Amino acid sequence: MQLKDRVAVVTGAAQGIGAAVARAYAREGARVALVDMHGDAARRVAGEIEAGGGEAIGLGCDVTDRAQVDAMAAAVDAAWGRVDVLVNNAGITRTAMAHKMTATQWQQVLDVHLTGSFNCLQAVIGGMIERRSGRLIFVTSAAGVLGTIGQINYSAAKAGILGMTKSAAREFARYGITANAIAPGAATPMTETIRTDEKFRDRYLARIPLGRWAEPDEVAPVFVFFASDASAYVTGQVLAADGGLTID
Ligand SMILES: NC(=O)c1ccc[n+]([C@@H]2O[C@H](COP(=O)([O-])OP(=O)(O)OC[C@H]3O[C@@H](n4cnc5c(N)ncnc54)[C@H](O)[C@@H]3O)[C@@H](O)[C@H]2O)c1
Repeated sequence: MQLKDRVAVVTGAAQGIGAAVARAYAREGARVALVDMHGDAARRVAGEIEAGGGEAIGLGCDVTDRAQVDAMAAAVDAAWGRVDVLVNNAGITRTAMAHKMTATQWQQVLDVHLTGSFNCLQAVIGGMIERRSGRLIFVTSAAGVLGTIGQINYSAAKAGILGMTKSAAREFARYGITANAIAPGAATPMTETIRTDEKFRDRYLARIPLGRWAEPDEVAPVFVFFASDASAYVTGQVLAADGGLTID
């Protein structure tokens, strides 16, 4: 088991990629806190992990709310005494062309991806510094590198996450803490429109060299890698598990 006894916090873990990562971490022996604004759904997935012999708790928390994030970190600390791995995975899209995007759509996306990731980092980093070890894993996207139509907010947020990852890697390397980002592509509720709408589906698939969507379980092993000893000497990097979408 690659993550035996490690304590991991995975945000946005009620469904999609976050739930798959939480399950993969538990299979590798980690104790996993599944954090999501939909607390009941997070607790349901945590219950399934426990029923399968893993160790997990589900916690309701809106990552944009600093008080809720601090309470979440305190709950994990009370349960297991520390956080070794933080996966900043919670995310949303609010799609609109830039000239029609509302200020609320713009702000909500920046709040969840950027402020949410920053809040969670601040809530757990003190303990990691004290212990001189820790893993920060951010989730970016091809949209942050290539740009995308109708998602200027999301592209800006995901590009911002690359900057956060690299800054965190430089700031915390002296404490033995690594920070890396993953750019996944996977079939989840978030991508339902582009996967099912004929207008988008074929065009998008044609841009993926592997020619298909991934299942969340196919991208989860990359998250295991960045949480495990195998990546001990890797920091400030971005690994795309996107079927080759970003080869160019
Ligand atoms: N699916 C893809 O192809 C793809 C591609 C690139 C990047 N990503 C990124 O991967 C991550 C996971 O995406 P997914 O496809 O699994 O999405 P998803 O919509 O299936 O799941 C996202 C989860 O985040 C939670 N969430 C949203 N806002 C939150 C908040 N404020 N506080 C706490 N939880 C919140 C949701 O409740 C949900 O459970 C996101 O950061 C997304 O941007 C996904």
